[in-house]
Amino acid sequence: MGGNTFGTLFRITTYGESHGRALGVTVDGCPAGIPLSEYTVQRELDRRRPGAHPVRGEDVKLNPAGTSRKEADEVEILSGIFEGKTTGTAISMIVRNADQHSADYGDIARKFRPGHADFSYYSKYGARDYRGGGRSSGRETIGRVAAGAVAKAFLESKGVKILAWTSEAVGIRCETFEEAAIENDPMRACDPAASEAMMARVVELKAAGDSGGGIITCRVSGDIPAGLGEPVFDKLDAELAHGILSVGAIKGIEFGAGFGAARLTGSQNNDPMRRDGETGKARFLSNNAGGILGGISTGAEILFRAAVKPVPSIALTQLTVDTRGEDCEISVHGRHDVCLCPRIVPVVESMTAIVLADLWLRNLTARA
Ligand SMILES: Cc1cc2nc3c(=O)[nH]c(=O)nc-3n(C[C@H](O)[C@H](O)[C@H](O)COP(=O)(O)O)c2cc1C
Repeated sequence: MGGNTFGTLFRITTYGESHGRALGVTVDGCPAGIPLSEYTVQRELDRRRPGAHPVRGEDVKLNPAGTSRKEADEVEILSGIFEGKTTGTAISMIVRNADQHSADYGDIARKFRPGHADFSYYSKYGARDYRGGGRSSGRETIGRVAAGAVAKAFLESKGVKILAWTSEAVGIRCETFEEAAIENDPMRACDPAASEAMMARVVELKAAGDSGGGIITCRVSGDIPAGLGEPVFDKLDAELAHGILSVGAIKGIEFGAGFGAARLTGSQNNDPMRRDGETGKARFLSNNAGGILGGISTGAEILFRAAVKPVPSIALTQLTVDTRGEDCEISVHGRHDVCLCPRIVPVVESMTAIVLADLWLRNLTARA
C-alpha cells in the first residue's frame, strides 16, 4: 500500500495498524537544534487519546464524547534526538499497542461497517486487517500527532502558534470565543455554554446508539511570514487541504470566508489593505482570504474550518453485506467515540504544523 509518506523537505512516513504490534512515524528533514523531548511528544499524544483529560498527569475524566478504551500510547523516541535537541537525522518514534481487545471486533471480520473503510479496503486489496479497522482506524493518527509535535517545536522556534478548537458539534454551534476554556473543555469547544449543550446531546446520541459530527476551526497566528506556499500545484491552501482531508472522518475544508465567498460581491469579499502606522508594513483590514492569496501566505492569520462526519461505528442496527456478498445487518458494539471533534482537534493542529514546517523549509529556496 502506498501513500504513507507526506511532505517534501519535512517528510513523514507513518506505519502501523490499530491492533498490530505498534504504530509510529519517521520524520526526515527536521533541521538540527530544535529543543525536543519525549515529554513534548507525549503531551501531544495524550491530547489525542480516547476519553482522556487533555492534561497529562491529571485524573482521566471519562468523556462521554469519547470511548472507554484505555490506551497508554507511550511514545519511545528511537533516533534523531541528542541532549534534548534534534540532530538533523531521521527522528523515529514508536508507540506499542497495549490495549488489544480483538474480540470486540469479531463481527467486523465478516461484515462491512456502513460508513467505515471496511468495504473499500476489502474491494481494493482483497485482504484486510479487520482488527479495530487496521490501518483505517483513528489510531493511525498517532504517527501524525507524534510528527506534529516535532513540526510544532520547529514552528514555535519561529514564533508561530497553531490553535484548533471545536466550533460546532452534534448540531450545536459555539456563539462565544473563550480561548482559555478550549484545552480543558471536554469537547475542546470555545464556548463553555455551547459545550454543555453538546455534551447533553452526546449523552442522548450515545443512549440511542447513534453518533454525531461537527466542525473544527484552526487558526495559525504569530510570526507568519508572507511567502509560505509553492505555486502552482503546492499552494498553501492545496497542501493544507491535502493534509487535513487525509485525516479519517474529515470531509471538507474551507479557508477564510470559504463557501460563503460564493455569495459575496467582490467588494465584500476583498480584504482591504492599509499601511500599518507602527510597523510600516501592509496589513489587511479583514480576513476573508484566510491569510492566503494565490496559494501563498500573506502574513495575516491563516484560518480554516474542517467538517467532521459522524462516527461510522454505531450500535444502531444498519443494513450491510458480508464478505460473501450476502445481505445482513450489523450493530457495532465495540468502544467507539460518539463525536470525534475533541480528538481530531490535536490531529488537525498536527497536520497543519507538518504542512507549514515543510513549506517553511521549501520557502528558503524562493530567492537567490
Ligand atoms: C482520531 C480518530 C478517531 C476515530 N475513532 C473512530 C471510532 O472510534 N470509530 C469509528 O467508527 N471511526 C472512528 N474514526 C473514523 C474512521 O477512522 C473513518 O471514518 C474511517 O477510516 C473511514 O474514513 P472516512 O470517514 O474518511 O471515509 C476515527 C477517526 C479519527 C481521526
